[in-house]
This record gives sequence, C-alpha cells and structure tokens, in this order.
Amino acid sequence: MPTDPTRPLTGARLEEDLAADNTLRPASTREFIGQREILEQLILSIEAARARGEALDHVLLYGPPGLGKTTLAKIIANEMGTTIKETSGPLLERKDDLAAILTDLQPGDVLFIDEIHRLARVVEECLYPALEDFQIDILIGEGPHAKSIKLELPQFTLVGATTRAGMITAPLRTRFGMLHRLNFYEGADMERIVARSARILEVEIEPEGAAEIARRSRGTPRIANRLLRRVRDWAQVRGDGRITHEAAARALKMLQVDERGLDQMDRELLRTLIEKFGGGPVGLNTLAVAIGEEEDTLIDVYEPYLIQIGFLHRTPRGRVATARAFEHMGVRPPASLQGELFEPL
Ligand SMILES: Nc1ncnc2c1ncn2[C@@H]1O[C@H](COP(=O)(O)OP(=O)(O)O)[C@@H](O)[C@H]1O
Ligand SMILES: [Mg+2]
Repeated sequence: MPTDPTRPLTGARLEEDLAADNTLRPASTREFIGQREILEQLILSIEAARARGEALDHVLLYGPPGLGKTTLAKIIANEMGTTIKETSGPLLERKDDLAAILTDLQPGDVLFIDEIHRLARVVEECLYPALEDFQIDILIGEGPHAKSIKLELPQFTLVGATTRAGMITAPLRTRFGMLHRLNFYEGADMERIVARSARILEVEIEPEGAAEIARRSRGTPRIANRLLRRVRDWAQVRGDGRITHEAAARALKMLQVDERGLDQMDRELLRTLIEKFGGGPVGLNTLAVAIGEEEDTLIDVYEPYLIQIGFLHRTPRGRVATARAFEHMGVRPPASLQGELFEPL
C-alpha cells in the first residue's frame, strides 16, 4: 500500500499499520520482547488463575501508543486459553451497547476495551457491578411499566487500555486487580524487535542495519515496524535488497527521520515552541493551533517521547523547551537555560 508522503511518518497511526500490526504481533509471552517486569507478573497471575480454574483478575494497561497494549491483551487471552472480544470506549455509546457485549461473553473470556478513558459516564457506571460481582442491571420494558432486573454474567476478565491513566476515574481504577504501565523500550530490546520483524517479513538485515532502525524508532515497536517497512522499500529499489547500515541510514535520511528518531512533526513542534514562543511556557491549546494538530495527538503521540528524552517539560504554565531541545534544533539556548546543558544526561 502506498504511503501518503504528506503524513508524518512516526506520528498518528497509519492505515497500513493495522495489517502490519497483526502480522508482526507476538502471540505469546515467549515471543513478546522486553517489558520484563510486567511480563513476569502476568505470567505468574495467569498460571495461578489457570490452576484455580478462575478468570484472571481485571488488568489495566497504560502507556503511549504502539508499545504493546493490544498485543498483551491478545496474549493474555491466548495464554488463558480463552477468546478475546474487542471494543473501545468511544464505540460503547449507550448502556445497551455494553450490555449486549457482556451478555455475550463465555466463562473466562477476555473483554478488551481500548481507549477506556473515553467511556461515557453512564456506560462506565454500568460496568462497575459487572466487574465486581459479574452482574448487570438491565431495564426491561418502557415507561411506567419498565422494571430493572439483575442478570448474572459469567466470570470474565476486563483488559482495559489507555494512553491517559490520569483520565481514568478512581472508581474504575480501583476495580482493576492489576495496573501495568508500559514504558518506551530500551535499545537492546528494540534491536531484537526489529530483527524479529525482519525475520517474519523475510527481509535480510545486518545487525548494524537493525541497530540503526532501532535507535531511531523512539523506543516504540510500532514505529520500528513502520520504519523497517520503509527501509525495506528503499533497499529493494535503491540497494540490493539487504538492509545494511548504509541502506538504513540513507532511507531514514530520505524519510526525514533524524538522528534522535524525530520526524517532521516532532521538529515542527520544537521549532514552533522555540522560534515562535521563545521556548515557552506556552499553553497546549496555543501550541496545537500553531502547528495545526489536535491537542490529543500532541499529548498522546508527540509529547511523551520528547519528555522522555528531556526535550520538553510540562509545567503548570505550559510547555517549555529545554536547553537540549534548543541544541538539537541548532538554536542557541537563552541564557536562562544554558546551565541546563551541564546537567548529567
Ligand atoms: N514487546 C513486543 N515485541 C515485539 N513486537 C511488539 C512488542 N510490542 C509491540 N510490538 C509490535 O508493535 C505493534 C504495535 O503494538 P500494539 O500492541 O498494537 O500497541 P498499542 O496497543 O500499545 O498501541 C504490534 O503489532 C507488534 O508488532
Ligand atoms: Mg492498541
């Protein structure tokens, strides 16, 4: 599928990722790379629940997009030997939408609710008794003759995923038995992910090629897989088909992914913050308007990594570029920030 060249490469999710995500998705905890602490705890809980013949406790997975939340939800269902039913917060508009899904569950099933922070309040409230007592109240009939009855549900496991843990209400959060935060992947794990994906895509890759792609993928497997596919195109057309270090470096240059893995939109954000607003602080809304992006996309997609690498701070007065960000953009930091450059990395 051709990629729209005007779309930022590492930013919002592309259509072609949907298919690729599924081909490249690890199906078991053994295939899943990195996030060791989370995996260890999940493996233990799964084994215990299976031995007791019970459904696994409800799990909340949170963290930036592309780190493996959906993948883990599917792995949980696989390893529990059950079926996964997938939906998302915005799709469940009314109580009835949720009731229809809940009453369709088989014992032990995994119900995966993506973007669970976007559940409507009424739907969320209907979910509480389902999570706690495996019961829901449903309304039968209409008007003055309507009556509420309790329906027993089979034991099931809710796996919720969100990019915004802060937007999960306290009553919902307390109903999860496990909360796991996925972090950006470290270099060695990213290299293994690139090498694994290359093997599945049957493309020959040298370790230095894999390392280059890994290094510039912002610690995010989905981005690594996306860049791998683009580099493969380059190698096929301009090279000899193998992903060497040179092929990776030249393709990534052409794609305007820089040394730190930042793409055009990341740089546009930093440039605007630095050149238009003197490095900030500037409000999220003003920044979003200035670069023509949705506030949500800034929060979910662009900011987490810039914060992680110490280029951006969120302060009560707004977003602030750090001295390191000035340096990266080739702009001399203002005197007030120069001390920052000598902070240890
Ligand atoms: N730990 C991992 N090991 C290998 N590949 C991974 C891993 N985590 C994610 N991926 C890859 O990244 C893609 C995106 O992961 P996904 O679970 O859809 O992310 P999220 O739901 O957090 O946005 C998956 O299709 C998979 O190919
Ligand atoms: Mg997902």
